[in-house]
Amino acid sequence: MIFTVAIDGPAAAGKGTISRAVAERFGFAHLDTGLLYRAVGAKGGDPVEAALTLSDADLTRDDLRTLEAGQAASRVAVIPEVRAALTDYQRSFARREGGAVLDGRDIGTVICPEAEVKLFVTASAEVRAHRRWLEVGGDEAQVLAEVIERDKRDAERATAPLKAVEDAVVIDTTVLSINAAVDVACRVIAEALGVRQ
Ligand code: CDP
Ligand code: CDP
Repeated sequence: MIFTVAIDGPAAAGKGTISRAVAERFGFAHLDTGLLYRAVGAKGGDPVEAALTLSDADLTRDDLRTLEAGQAASRVAVIPEVRAALTDYQRSFARREGGAVLDGRDIGTVICPEAEVKLFVTASAEVRAHRRWLEVGGDEAQVLAEVIERDKRDAERATAPLKAVEDAVVIDTTVLSINAAVDVACRVIAEALGVRQ
């Protein structure tokens, strides 16, 4: 069975949390595509070369979750050649046998517009920054400023900007618990699969 769940949305909206839960519930493979861009940004040197030669070791560095790595990722993510170098891998992952869930910024728009389910997960910038701050600590006002700056760069870039497609189901997690957001996602997927929950 080929079945793709595309999950897009701004920073710290809950994409990863929902993706992991959905993957476990339905037995789908999961790809956190943000990690690819984080790894390219963290590698340094020529970003296009970094994207073309990305290895497992690059993807398992333990400094990929920092705020700095997020900023570096969004700077290399505006380069069309970097995005192009990462496209084939993501597309084959999306259409692999057995079902796949991919989360990122351009999954429903560019990587897999034919995805059977498209979700756009969002929340207010303040709530998202607070959640990220609980994870990384430091100065909460600075975390908020960085989240806003990164969202702006992701939404305004010319190639594959962050946006919700028309056929995406929007899940606003501003006041939704993780469990409630996962339930909404699972209901949409079960309906598309034609299975009873
Ligand atoms: O993948 P993305 O950056 O969109 O977000 P995430 O890593 O899944 O979630 C960011 C943080 O928000 C995590 O610590 C989640 O536990 C938390 N979260 C939450 O408190 N309530 C939600 N409804 C969703 C996520
Ligand atoms: O977890 P969080 O939502 O904070 O970030 P991420 O998903 O790890 O993505 C880091 C950065 O990579 C984003 O701010 C985007 O600039 C870029 N990215 C992208 O351009 N396209 C994707 N499909 C995924 C991430």
